[in-house]
Amino acid sequence: MKIAVAGGTGAVGRHVVDVARESGHDVVVLTRSNGVDLVSGSGLADALTGVDAVIDVASKQTMSAKESTQFFTTVTRNLLAAEKAAGVAHHVALSIVGSDQAPYAYYAGKVAQEKAIGVGDIPWTVLRATQFHEFAGQIYGQVKLGPFVVVPKMRSQPIAAREVAERLVDIAEGTPAGLVPDLGGPCEEQMVDMVRDYAATLPGKHWVLELPVPGAYGQAMRDGTLVPGPGADHGTQTFRDWLA
Ligand SMILES: NC(=O)c1ccc[n+]([C@@H]2O[C@H](COP(=O)([O-])OP(=O)(O)OC[C@H]3O[C@@H](n4cnc5c(N)ncnc54)[C@H](OP(=O)(O)O)[C@@H]3O)[C@@H](O)[C@H]2O)c1
Repeated sequence: MKIAVAGGTGAVGRHVVDVARESGHDVVVLTRSNGVDLVSGSGLADALTGVDAVIDVASKQTMSAKESTQFFTTVTRNLLAAEKAAGVAHHVALSIVGSDQAPYAYYAGKVAQEKAIGVGDIPWTVLRATQFHEFAGQIYGQVKLGPFVVVPKMRSQPIAAREVAERLVDIAEGTPAGLVPDLGGPCEEQMVDMVRDYAATLPGKHWVLELPVPGAYGQAMRDGTLVPGPGADHGTQTFRDWLA
């Protein structure tokens, strides 16, 4: 198959590209660093020539609901229009466990993305996964208070990005299935513990401070909304095995 990976240089995207290539597929990477801008649409039409399935794992780092919604709706609409023109048969996208129950900040964009896919013309599959093990590194240092690295009080059941990538490639090889069962990691963690363990692998001393985020968004982080429920599938690699 020929598979295009939107966001193929990102935390999960690089694994999607590796897994798809290891499985014998012809892979096209859709990122700005590979000459395709998913927001302006430049380079997209040519890149999708002969593509059978698109796996969308593009992202923008933002906590603004407006920016996130703008990014994910624009990217999805651009992808779906180009896929239609190119005759792509399957649009696969990665969303986040519980984002539909917590449509705030970044998650607002994920809800808008799922909606745009659902009303679009391309047969689709959406997989919702939990935070990646790599998430600890992604949020490390994003918010600082003096010498402290600030981490939200958050329950998570993290999964290896590689295991998410394996599932996404399996999905792309199959037929469109709509919303499929959630995918989470093998065990629940507190985000502050993950970030402290991650920081311990870095040179020097690090002070990691846990703070509850106010409002409904923070509540969803604390109360288990983002942890997979019954019926979810689970990866096998724990955060500490991954870190080691
Ligand atoms: N991180 C997590 O823990 C987690 C958990 C569950 C689900 N997800 C979902 O997984 C997906 C990927 O997240 P991630 O953390 O792997 O993302 P990431 O590491 O931030 O990577 C983002 C990717 O998007 C590309 N990109 C950004 N803007 C672009 C543009 N205008 N045009 C083309 N490419 C663009 C980047 O490449 P260039 O900069 O080269 O353009 C990069 O390859 C997202 O949908 C996210 O919601 C993430």
